[in-house]
Amino acid sequence: MRSYRIASIPADGIGPEVISAGLEVLEALVARDGGFKLEVDHYDWGSAYYRKHGVFMPEGSLATLKKADAIYFGAVGAEDVPDHISLWGLRLPICQGFDQYANIRPTRVLPGVTSPLRDVGPGDLDWLIVRENSEGEYAGHGGRAHRGLPEEVATEVAIFTRVGVERIMRYAFGQAQKRARKHLTVVTKSNAQKFGLVMWDEIALEVSADFPGVTWDKELVDAMTMRMVRKPQSIDTVVATNLHADILSDLAAALAGSLGVAPTGNVDPSRRYPSMFEPIHGSAFDITGKGIANPVASFWTAALMLEHLGEARAAAALMVAVEQVCAAGVLTPDVGGKATTKEVTAAMVEAIKGSNLG
Ligand code: IPM
Ligand code: MG
Repeated sequence: MRSYRIASIPADGIGPEVISAGLEVLEALVARDGGFKLEVDHYDWGSAYYRKHGVFMPEGSLATLKKADAIYFGAVGAEDVPDHISLWGLRLPICQGFDQYANIRPTRVLPGVTSPLRDVGPGDLDWLIVRENSEGEYAGHGGRAHRGLPEEVATEVAIFTRVGVERIMRYAFGQAQKRARKHLTVVTKSNAQKFGLVMWDEIALEVSADFPGVTWDKELVDAMTMRMVRKPQSIDTVVATNLHADILSDLAAALAGSLGVAPTGNVDPSRRYPSMFEPIHGSAFDITGKGIANPVASFWTAALMLEHLGEARAAAALMVAVEQVCAAGVLTPDVGGKATTKEVTAAMVEAIKGSNLG
């Protein structure tokens, strides 16, 4: 029987609530499918661990995680820890240490969920945002000098390498090719950022020659925000820099109805290292512990993980169950319902038990 080792890192805020919901649903799926099993290792890393030990994860953690086939991650960030400390303590060392250079963010309007855009329903907004995840504005290059003095200076250097841009471009064209509409929009700000992003445009043109089946266009990031709102149907696959795609993906999630349903995968397409899958929403202190966190993002995240592991049939069954449960109106308050995390999870387990996975 096929077996996969999953490293579960629920971490902070609503992370533990949604990851345990996701694991419950995965268990139901495994029981139903019968063709594979998951061995889950649980890690208690995160802000509570940091308060006790002064680090977010122990030394040697990447070597431990490397044994996993995939990482299922909740959220990192706590009210009493500066965000840049928590981020650079846990999530970014994994993304960068494991060269998870492709961040994929599928977005669509699920049945039963209402987009804030008038007349936009399932089918009108069905996007895949591919985010460069290893360099760009998140490269961690820069510094500060003359701290506290009037002359203080800080630099934050965006790094764009030919290798980095070409591989994400190739990945994005490849993803576009697999989708029904086979269209890619390359987003930059190459009018104002005349070095790195002009290189993006040049590399996009070069790589496009290898993907004759994919149509593509270019958009500046500011214009892209308007296009997402005004012509969502014109968009299929999108590729953008680390920061631009970060911003666009929040807009995308809001336009699809809620950040509470948005999943992501931090993927190492070379498969040298395990890839990491997580809901986009983050810790959400305002609702932590209230039992009303939307677990749909973590279910969809689990589907991305299964797909990456090669279990496409189970992934598809999981998404059918998500759509059934949403369409039936079993929704948490962020998407206009009254259900709790546990109720949505129970409905998912029922839907999976009743599905034929065919
Ligand atoms: C995301 C998040 C993170 C990011 C934050 C938590 C640093 O916004 O995954 O989109 O910017 O990468
Ligand atoms: Mg973000």
